Amino acid sequence: MTDTKQEVIHSVTSNIDSVFTWDYERARPALVKLYEKAKTSQWNVSTDLDWSTDVDPEKIGTELGGGTAMRFSVLRTAEDSPARKFSEKQWLQVSVELQNSLLSQFMHGEQGALLCTARIVETVPWIDAKYYAATQVMDEARHVEVFARYLSEKLGHQYRINDNLRLLLDDILSDSRWDITYLGMQIMVEGLALAAFGMMQQITTEPLLKKLLRYVMSDEARHVAFGVLSLQEYYAELTDAEMRERQEFAFDVACRLQRRFAQVEVWERMGVDAQSVYRIMERENPPENRAFQALLFSKIVPNCKKLGLLDAAGGWLREKFTESGVIQYEDHLDTGGEYELLDEVARDRETAATA
Ligand SMILES: [Fe+2]
Ligand SMILES: [Fe+2]
Repeated sequence: MTDTKQEVIHSVTSNIDSVFTWDYERARPALVKLYEKAKTSQWNVSTDLDWSTDVDPEKIGTELGGGTAMRFSVLRTAEDSPARKFSEKQWLQVSVELQNSLLSQFMHGEQGALLCTARIVETVPWIDAKYYAATQVMDEARHVEVFARYLSEKLGHQYRINDNLRLLLDDILSDSRWDITYLGMQIMVEGLALAAFGMMQQITTEPLLKKLLRYVMSDEARHVAFGVLSLQEYYAELTDAEMRERQEFAFDVACRLQRRFAQVEVWERMGVDAQSVYRIMERENPPENRAFQALLFSKIVPNCKKLGLLDAAGGWLREKFTESGVIQYEDHLDTGGEYELLDEVARDRETAATA
């Protein structure tokens, strides 16, 4: 069940070319290797996870939401805060709801990834990329399934999609250029998701959530690698003017991903005026909050660098990322090959085989 009434079906109009290629030669070894990995690292939500695990949402809320609630600690003291009189019990509920809303947005984002990647199967002109994208379609179906099941069986309710996230996914899907689908989804949205899953997975001690995040991350690392390996080739041939368009698009997506963090839907559910919460957070965004948000860009920035997006067209994106306080990640490990290190599915199978 979702928390508020909304239309069940949402359509996005676009005008795309479905592209065949008659060149079946396996010309892109990095994509061939990635595809082979994807075929052997598939997992099954129904049988690889222990769904009999008892889950205590308040414990998850305290562990994970505790940190998240800290981001909102200014709401305890600000004169004009609508949550200033909240009891400790209400703050505990805020923590629980923040996690629930975050996982709900992950679920909706996964559906966005499912649609984007199905799109790439149709639009990308290279056979190796079509093969690989087909495996990612299966991965994303599994991710929607796993978050939807965890939310409904273990946490009890789901939030509707956040307006910023919905508009962002709509914009990515309504663009007809095949590389923009990749840039918006594989590089930006999935780059952020990979960092967010990593943080959450390290903090939580809830075994079911921890394992499902480890497995989802193994897949996501491949997806981001798919973006990097495909666009690297294509972007090497674009003109400065074309690169500048991509830089602006990437930066716009980055700004919109930042806005998602206010989690207004939680405050609506808590019965307070979400707009005033948003206003206070914008006004008094504390440094530890900014550090947390910056960390979420630890995958996006090095990947943009690897694609040549930071320094093309006079370094426009470098300047923007410097102003936003995230440029320090430029030399972090990019995700082109990181997927091999993050293959938790293969690791668990090896351990089981030698036990
Ligand atoms: Fe995914
Ligand atoms: Fe993904």
